Amino acid sequence: MRNAPCIIAILWVVLTFGSPHRQAHANHAIYPKTYSDSVDGLIIKQFAGLNGRVGQEVGNGRTLKDTENFQLIRELESDPSYSEMKPSLMYDQSSGKGHLSKGRKSAANAMEKRIQKRHIKKSKKTKKSKKRGSKDRIVNAMLGTVTFNVGLHPTVVPEYETRRAKFIEIIENGSLPGDVVCLQEVWEADDLREIISKTRTDFPFSVSALHQTIDGDTVFPTANPSIPACTLAEVNAVSQCFFNNCLANNATDLFLCFVGNCVPEYQALSQVCLACLLARQSRNPKELLASFNRTEFCATTPYEVTYGLVILSKRPIEDASFVDYHEGYSVSVPRGYLRAKVSDIHVFCTHTTPVLTDVYIDGRFSSYAEQSLYELGTLLNAANPDLERSLLLGDFNTSPSIPDANITSQLPLSYDLLVQNYFSPYLETVTLCTFCYDNWLTYNLSNVIIDHVLVPKSWRDLIMAKVNREATPLRIFDGDDTVSDHYGVALFSQENQEE
Ligand SMILES: *[C@@H]1O[C@H](CO)[C@@H](O)[C@H](O)[C@H]1NC(C)=O
Ligand SMILES: *[C@@H]1O[C@H](CO)[C@@H](O)[C@H](O)[C@H]1NC(C)=O
Ligand SMILES: *[C@@H]1O[C@H](CO)[C@@H](O)[C@H](O)[C@H]1NC(C)=O
Ligand SMILES: *[C@@H]1O[C@H](CO)[C@@H](O)[C@H](O)[C@H]1NC(C)=O
Ligand SMILES: *[C@@H]1O[C@H](CO)[C@@H](O)[C@H](O)[C@H]1NC(C)=O
Repeated sequence: MRNAPCIIAILWVVLTFGSPHRQAHANHAIYPKTYSDSVDGLIIKQFAGLNGRVGQEVGNGRTLKDTENFQLIRELESDPSYSEMKPSLMYDQSSGKGHLSKGRKSAANAMEKRIQKRHIKKSKKTKKSKKRGSKDRIVNAMLGTVTFNVGLHPTVVPEYETRRAKFIEIIENGSLPGDVVCLQEVWEADDLREIISKTRTDFPFSVSALHQTIDGDTVFPTANPSIPACTLAEVNAVSQCFFNNCLANNATDLFLCFVGNCVPEYQALSQVCLACLLARQSRNPKELLASFNRTEFCATTPYEVTYGLVILSKRPIEDASFVDYHEGYSVSVPRGYLRAKVSDIHVFCTHTTPVLTDVYIDGRFSSYAEQSLYELGTLLNAANPDLERSLLLGDFNTSPSIPDANITSQLPLSYDLLVQNYFSPYLETVTLCTFCYDNWLTYNLSNVIIDHVLVPKSWRDLIMAKVNREATPLRIFDGDDTVSDHYGVALFSQENQEE
């Protein structure tokens, strides 16, 4: 039995970190009672004026290992507006690290081979199209593409159950448009399975981070993994750090104290553990710490990290892989890209970081702006060898500023980087927000265009010549069929529209 005066404090520990018996040095007596009345308000404190400061202190002195993006970042450093961030860039060029683990790489290679074999038979359509002009063929292959952030997060976007059911109905009705579709924010593995199985008739080909190669076969695993998401040791390290540095010292702002002291322990959590802990985080990203009330669950239950991404295709996929932007590190929201070669076009499907919290918590960089540049740099480097035949789809969390259309800038340096070699036919013709003030599911008060179908600039003339004749950029899922806090963006061919 526990002492009555401690019950409130213990309740908070339980809510925050799981069972108190796991706190080796927990001394509940010094637990300030005031924390208990404000579990909800606990993390929401004043962040004004602190933007990035704590994150930078944590970031400095850390050696970041990467080589690939160095060139891009160095180019940006010559941009005066970027120089503010320069002091925090501390990459170690000598000990660069690949983005695919060995296991994943061989799995991806085997998967590619398998899929290639499977589709050699189905080359009738390809042969026919080869007779057309090669430029025309490439441009046509870029049409029929769709990006949609479906917002299937159980707690961050409201009305999850209703929206989920509605989206499933849409795909069952065959109302998911396009030939090649990149979906983001399909966070739950069960939702990913259901979407893939229910679209299989229309979209027989798919890629996700959960696709695996087993005995030479590419399969979408139906069995759940058996290993719990977290080990007790890793979650105890975080909770003890938090307790010793912040709670026992009666820190005035627990979130800032956590970021200032416990980011190494937070980052030492495996990606699957961190993803599991945060899978039911509240809509307010500052309440990140409250998610640690899933400690018990995640230490006993397996969790599959989907990265939210799936590519669905009507056309055969010849080549497929998944890359985690932060392989070997853990970030609060797992980030990566899917790659699929479809009709000789290299399709990239991604969802890169926004400014998630006012204070940067992920430790690997010193700000979300920097993390975004890094993720986009990785993506652009991967696409670059096939630049002329590449297509970037997704939620890039970066928007241009278009005052005439009431569109607000978001992460402008990231946008500049993205449009160095790519352009958006949608932006040249539609300019309607994709994450909008008037969508009741959003919580941001500005209109932004962060969902993009990006085509290499070298095809601009050919694509724009087709626009309004054979091709149309469109905003989709923006009427009665709104199912997400985002609207989708499509680059249709006339053929797609007639469907
Ligand atoms: C699906 O089709 C049924 C029957 O045609 C229709 O009643 C329903 O509204 C459709 N649902 C969606 C989400 O389009
Ligand atoms: C903890 O901090 C609060 C305000 O920040 C203060 O009122 C309280 O006396 C402190 N308690 C201890 C045990 O230091
Ligand atoms: C965990 O915290 C979240 C956010 O504060 C809350 O919505 C949820 O109900 C809590 N879950 C449990 C099991 O206490
Ligand atoms: C809302 O949008 C503004 C401007 O685009 C951006 O600076 C801010 O980070 C966004 N806030 C959230 C919570 O997404
Ligand atoms: C422009 O967007 C803001 C939200 O950022 C909204 O409050 C305002 O009503 C919009 N103005 C017009 C003219 O649509």
